[in-house]
Amino acid sequence: MHAPAPRQAFVRPPAQTPFTDVTVGALFGPNDRSDVFRVSSPKASMPTSLPVEAINPLLLVMSKHKIWRDGALVGWQDATIHVMSHAVHYGSSVFEGIRCYSTPDGPAIFRLPEHMRRFQDSCRIYRMPMRHSIEDLSAACSEVVAENELDACYLRPVAIRTGEEMGVLPNKAPVETFVIPWVWGRYLGHEALEEGVDVCVSSWRRPAPDTIPMLAKAGGNYLNSQLSKMEARASGFVEGIMLDTLGNVAEGSGENLFIVRDGVVYTPTIGSSILNGITRDSVMRIARDLGYTVLEQVVPRELLYISDEAFFTGTAAELTPIRSVDKIEVGPGKPGPVTLAIQKVYMGIATGKMPDRYGWLTRVESRVTA
Ligand SMILES: Cc1ncc(COP(=O)(O)O)c(C=O)c1O
Repeated sequence: MHAPAPRQAFVRPPAQTPFTDVTVGALFGPNDRSDVFRVSSPKASMPTSLPVEAINPLLLVMSKHKIWRDGALVGWQDATIHVMSHAVHYGSSVFEGIRCYSTPDGPAIFRLPEHMRRFQDSCRIYRMPMRHSIEDLSAACSEVVAENELDACYLRPVAIRTGEEMGVLPNKAPVETFVIPWVWGRYLGHEALEEGVDVCVSSWRRPAPDTIPMLAKAGGNYLNSQLSKMEARASGFVEGIMLDTLGNVAEGSGENLFIVRDGVVYTPTIGSSILNGITRDSVMRIARDLGYTVLEQVVPRELLYISDEAFFTGTAAELTPIRSVDKIEVGPGKPGPVTLAIQKVYMGIATGKMPDRYGWLTRVESRVTA
C-alpha cells in the first residue's frame, strides 16, 4: 500500500493577483499549468485558492504584457472572450506558433510571412473570414514584440470564433484575432536539443484525410494531440509519434518527424495527415543545401526502429533529436552527425549567428536597451 499523497498547501492569492484574468487561448503549451492552476475571471464565481507550487512564475512577467486584439494593443487582462464563444463549445479556432529569436542585431521573427500565410490558409479551409491581411498580421506580430520590449519570445496568433450563439453552424459567429506574446524555452525538456528525447509510438492515430483537415492548424486538432501526449507522458515518454490511418508514420503531437538512414533523410509527405511544418520546410532546404538527399515519402513504422538517426522539427521543438523509440535506441542512442549538422545551421540562422541566406528573419526595431 502506498502512503496517501500529502495534502497540497493552498494559499489565497492577493486580491489583485495578476493571474486571475488569464483567458482561454493564452495558456496553450507546456508552460500551461491549468491542470493544477485554475485561472478565472475575477467577475466569475470561481475558486480563488491556488496550489502554491502551481503558480507559473512566468505569468508574473507575462501578465504585464500587452496582447494585440484586432488592431489594438490591450492589457493582458482585457484579452477576454465570452464563455458562449463558438470556439469554446465547438473547437473553432485556428492559430499559429512563431518564434522570435534574440540576434546580435536585435529581435528577429523567424519565417513570419510563411506563418501568416498558413494562418490565412487555416482560416480559408474553415471558411473563417479573416479581415486582416498577411502584411497587417505580420506588422501586428512585430508590434507585439516591439511594444512589449521583448527580445526572444514566442508569438501565438489565434483567430477565434466568438459570439454568444448556440449551434454548430459557425457562420454567424464573429471571428476575433489576437496575437499573444509568450516566453517559451525548450519545448521538449532542458537538454532535449543536445541529448535527444525518448519517445513512443502512440496508440492514437492522426485522423483520416476525409475527417479533419490536418493542413489547417486548428485548435480542435489538438484534442487528438493531447490524447497522444498524455498517453506518452503517462508511460514515461517525452512525446508520442502518431501513425496515419494506414499505419504509416505521421508526426508528433506538435512536431514533424524526420529519419536518416544511410545518409538519406526521409520525412512523411503532407498526404500522411501531418501539419505542413515551416520548420520541416526549413530543414529540408538546409539538408539539401548541405548535400543530403531528402525524400518526402510514406514512412513505414518499422523504419523508426532501424534508422540511424531521427529527429523532430517544429517552431517550439526546433530541431530535437530522438534518442529512442519504444525503448529501442535510434542508432547508437545519441544525436547523429546529420541531425547535428542540420541543427547547427537551423539554429545558427535563427539566432543570427550565421548569415540569413534564405531571408528567413524579420527584424524588429528593438526597444530593449542593452
Ligand atoms: C501537429 C504539428 N505538427 C507539426 C508542427 C511543426 O510545425 P512548424 O514547424 O510550422 O512549427 C506543429 C507545430 O506547430 C504541430 O503542432
